[in-house]
Amino acid sequence: MFNIAIFASGRGSNTRAILDNIDGGKINARISVVVSNKSDAGIFNIAVEKRIPHRYLNPSDFESDEEYTGVVLSVLDEFDIGLIVLAGYLKKIPSAIISRYRNRIMNIHPALLPAFGGVGMYGMRVHNAVIEYGVRVTGVTVHFVDEEYDHGPIILQEPVRVYDDDTPESLSQRVLQVEHEIYSRAIALFAEGRLSIHGRRVYLQQ
Ligand code: GRF
Repeated sequence: MFNIAIFASGRGSNTRAILDNIDGGKINARISVVVSNKSDAGIFNIAVEKRIPHRYLNPSDFESDEEYTGVVLSVLDEFDIGLIVLAGYLKKIPSAIISRYRNRIMNIHPALLPAFGGVGMYGMRVHNAVIEYGVRVTGVTVHFVDEEYDHGPIILQEPVRVYDDDTPESLSQRVLQVEHEIYSRAIALFAEGRLSIHGRRVYLQQ
């Protein structure tokens, strides 16, 4: 069975959607460990409820980046992790982990990259910026993680229309519903070995 590690800092609604799709047989994998940098993250309640091993690992509790990286790598080894899924994880992944798990770390971003991404663009900041700019279409991007924020090869994107009466909150809710669908789809494609990557381009095999 294919092992996934979830890294998350918040409430965990994407994680819950992924777990539902695993339970429903749509993803042939299991979530083997949940890692968070926040001791009170909602994601830990989900891990306890679903009896998933979980680890609180906060980079600032470690003497050095190397020490933190070593502990994270040992957790990934312990659970024989094949894919790291970032689901609202707000810390940067150390470059040693990115190079060891090249094209095996996924992130979801609540906009159509490369628009409205990059340093400081997370959570409601993204939807505020989308509304303020006045774009008519936003959406969701699932991508592999590289050394730059919101930059790696794009796996799936799905548009979401912006309506005249949208607020950042109303828009974020519709975007989140799409996130819940496409993150699982991307993970399922990966677990089935149907993604091939050439440079920046990700090809979906039928
Ligand atoms: C999502 O909007 C995701 O796009 C972003 O962080 C949020 C996480 O939400 N990266 P949740 O914790 O999965 O509910």
